[in-house]
Amino acid sequence: MEKVMNSPLILDGKKISEKIRGELRSNISEASREAGREPGLAVILVGSDPASEIYVRNKIKACEKVGIRSFSYKLAEGIRTEEIIELISELNAKEEVDGILVQLPLPPHIDQKEVISAISPSKDVDGFHPENMGRLLGGIEEGFVPCTPLGIDILLGEYGIELKGMDVTVVGAGFIVGRPLSALLLRRNATVTVCHIHTKDLAKFTSQADMVISATGVPHLIKSDMVREGAVVIDVGISRIGGKIVGDVEFESVSKKASAITPVPGGVGPMTVTALLMNTFKAFRIRTGIQSTSTINP
Ligand code: GUN
Repeated sequence: MEKVMNSPLILDGKKISEKIRGELRSNISEASREAGREPGLAVILVGSDPASEIYVRNKIKACEKVGIRSFSYKLAEGIRTEEIIELISELNAKEEVDGILVQLPLPPHIDQKEVISAISPSKDVDGFHPENMGRLLGGIEEGFVPCTPLGIDILLGEYGIELKGMDVTVVGAGFIVGRPLSALLLRRNATVTVCHIHTKDLAKFTSQADMVISATGVPHLIKSDMVREGAVVIDVGISRIGGKIVGDVEFESVSKKASAITPVPGGVGPMTVTALLMNTFKAFRIRTGIQSTSTINP
């Protein structure tokens, strides 16, 4: 990739998402005609965390736009783990539901592990079930890859950024992004370093990397002196500071050194939702036996 000094390639997740969702819409319409029904996604939201409410609303809206039917379940904050599992059991058995998503985080009294494990792995479009996480770590192609790692992988692929042999430093080892992303990068034959809250010298690992992917939720954690000249920088963070959405990366300064960088908003965020739509369509195709005509398959 050629680098023009001080003007990095902007990895435009919004634009790529629009392109993929357009293609998905026509593929879904054709497949729905063949199957006699639309793909269906059940979305479970527990409590009323404002950020989660926005994310869920965006996911449901995105489903409607591509022809995926959504089934929305808003559960009271005080609900018990067993009651959520009961609902999931019903959804597992429901023919018209292809995917089940439980928005995280769950309230602290809920056993998240039990809830996620109750989802049928074949409907686990978030890819969080131990069976799907295990497949990912085992390098097994079948199953579902969590949406943010999958979205990042697709975004890099669209821009022709080859992960094979790259030194990638992942900052953040969380369940939703850092851990599954590290496994996916390894599957792509990158050399992966995972940093986390106990890492003694973060800059030591970020500054030697060909690619830095930050998923911590710490605003402006990654500064320009922590990034190598010409590095690819992927920002997964979404934080709100005084009504403004900012990422983990100090975009202003880091973009002067990076060869390619994702903006916040408009980078990884839309790709996560696109990956969810793709995973839901994939679950539908597997369950109905309809072949894919798409060029991009998760
Ligand atoms: N909370 C933050 N990101 C995600 C995600 O990708 N899926 C779910 N279910 N919850 C989330």
